[in-house]
Amino acid sequence: MIPDSIIVALQNEMQQAGYITRSAVERIAKQFHVSPTQVYSVASFYQQFTFTPQGKNVIAICTGTACFIAGAEKILAMLKKELGIGEGEVTADGKFSIQKNTRCLGKCSSAPVVMVNDQIYENVTVARMKEIIDELR
Ligand code: FES
Repeated sequence: MIPDSIIVALQNEMQQAGYITRSAVERIAKQFHVSPTQVYSVASFYQQFTFTPQGKNVIAICTGTACFIAGAEKILAMLKKELGIGEGEVTADGKFSIQKNTRCLGKCSSAPVVMVNDQIYENVTVARMKEIIDELR
């Protein structure tokens, strides 16, 4: 069983570095006397942990069924074009990244739903998404 403290250590790493590095995995493994593989498998299980650098503003567009039907793909397409990056990538200025494969955010009745950092936006349109990124620029 993996102790909760490994999850806390991974969360601290995310807060400090913005992503989980290979050296962080090794350091945490050593700290909790488990193998790096065990730490890696915990980190890869939870969507909150990422192994690649993130932008200052992380945009997650829900691609769950309700949001997909409500037009999330159009929002995602506009965002990719507007920012010039794909999912899992960071803009050259480091200001934005688009999270990959965002699952249901638990607000299906307000689809499409977008999360920017810790803030949830409901009933988002392509125009509203454009306004949100303009406000963050
Ligand atoms: S499917 Fe998007 S919030 Fe549930």
